[in-house]
Amino acid sequence: MREPVSLDKRAFLKVVALWLFGAIGMFFAWGAVRFAFFSAGKTRVREFSSEVLHKMEPGVPLHLPEPAAWLLKNTDGTLVALDDRCTHLGCRQKWNPDRKLFECPCHGSEFDSEGSVKRGPATRPIEKLTVSVESDRIRLTAKPQGPS
Ligand code: FES
Repeated sequence: MREPVSLDKRAFLKVVALWLFGAIGMFFAWGAVRFAFFSAGKTRVREFSSEVLHKMEPGVPLHLPEPAAWLLKNTDGTLVALDDRCTHLGCRQKWNPDRKLFECPCHGSEFDSEGSVKRGPATRPIEKLTVSVESDRIRLTAKPQGPS
């Protein structure tokens, strides 16, 4: 036969449970606050070797997995960089050379080579990155996004 749990034991377990759930709640609340306030408004910089310029053909975007971006050299030699994530829910777009469009494999959004939306569900253009070439390095800078 089981011994009845004493009131003191129950009270102790309640306090332990409250502390445990409180600690878990604080952990998730801190993560949400950090995400909302500390990641917003930061400028993100991605750097890589300028050797990739030798691999590029004008008008054909080159995917750079490490900086997570597409780099495009126009026929006039200017460089355009686009984030490689879809603005719908963040999947990585793929370049379709036949259609000259970025296609998102997740829900079918399409973007032209400048990042403008050609087909939804995405409604915002692909984020453009500022490109600067410094001797042997290329620097891509993402400006902080405002509310959309
Ligand atoms: S994530 Fe690209 S269309 Fe949904």
